[in-house]
Amino acid sequence: MLIFSGSSNKPLAGKIARDLNKEISPTEIFVFPDGEKRIRIKEEVLGEDCVIVQSASIPPDENYMELFIMIDALKRSGAKSIKTLIPYLGYQRQDHIFREGEAVSLEVIAEILTRVGMTELFSFDLHSPKIPEIFSVPVHHLSALPVFADKIRKEFNLNDIILVSPDMGGIRRIKQISEELGNIPFATVEKNRDLSTGEINDSGLTGDVRGKAVVIVDDMISTGITMVEAANLLIESGATKVVVFATHAILARYADKILQESRIERVIVSDTVEVPNFKQFPKLEILSIAKEAARALIS
Ligand code: R5P
Repeated sequence: MLIFSGSSNKPLAGKIARDLNKEISPTEIFVFPDGEKRIRIKEEVLGEDCVIVQSASIPPDENYMELFIMIDALKRSGAKSIKTLIPYLGYQRQDHIFREGEAVSLEVIAEILTRVGMTELFSFDLHSPKIPEIFSVPVHHLSALPVFADKIRKEFNLNDIILVSPDMGGIRRIKQISEELGNIPFATVEKNRDLSTGEINDSGLTGDVRGKAVVIVDDMISTGITMVEAANLLIESGATKVVVFATHAILARYADKILQESRIERVIVSDTVEVPNFKQFPKLEILSIAKEAARALIS
């Protein structure tokens, strides 16, 4: 198996390659003055099983385009199979039509990936369990939750905490991690968004968090507003402290600043998305999912 990396998350690709006792195979990515890229695979791939690691993090369109071209280059060079590990699958929140006149953007992405030659997809903590059905090739839905559960077991007193999903859509995830931790209690924030602006209109809480340390678990942090507003509501509802876990640290706009300045005590994320140094902040801790990814690629 040969491992290739796009530009978006080289540290993760490097860790996965090391876990598999391999090197990243060389690729030349030349950027023209107008921003177009020319990609050349610099290794013999004829008849080989190839894996490309590329997260569709910021900027998603550019990272996807690079991935499409890498897949095409591998296909034209005779690769036997082309698996993609897209740890954070961009556009996954657009997996169906919310309002008349919209596109199903994730279907467009799925269509291009398979048309250019992707034979299998590996990804982490998809927003909806139905997303694999959009793809016509096998999809391996991996999760950072076991890594998070380990961390919670080691650093928190399970008798003192309550898990919280910051929205109703995260209920499945919160039940899963609660079970993994021996069915510890959980609660849910009910969040209502404006479908055109994406802004949160109002939120409420189901469950009692009084006197408890709260551990929020979500799939992603984009602007950070969901987490900050959930934390405010939880502290105002009697929680003693709030710690958050999220698989994908997209950290759009000023997420780093608002999270650091919030009432949240710690922000623990995985490395499905590379967080550049300038976006890192004191409350942030990054756990690696490289071992989970490596294990899945060889099983
Ligand atoms: C929403 O359904 C997701 O699970 C996240 O809660 C959301 O995308 C986070 O977005 P933001 O950080 O911008 O509030």
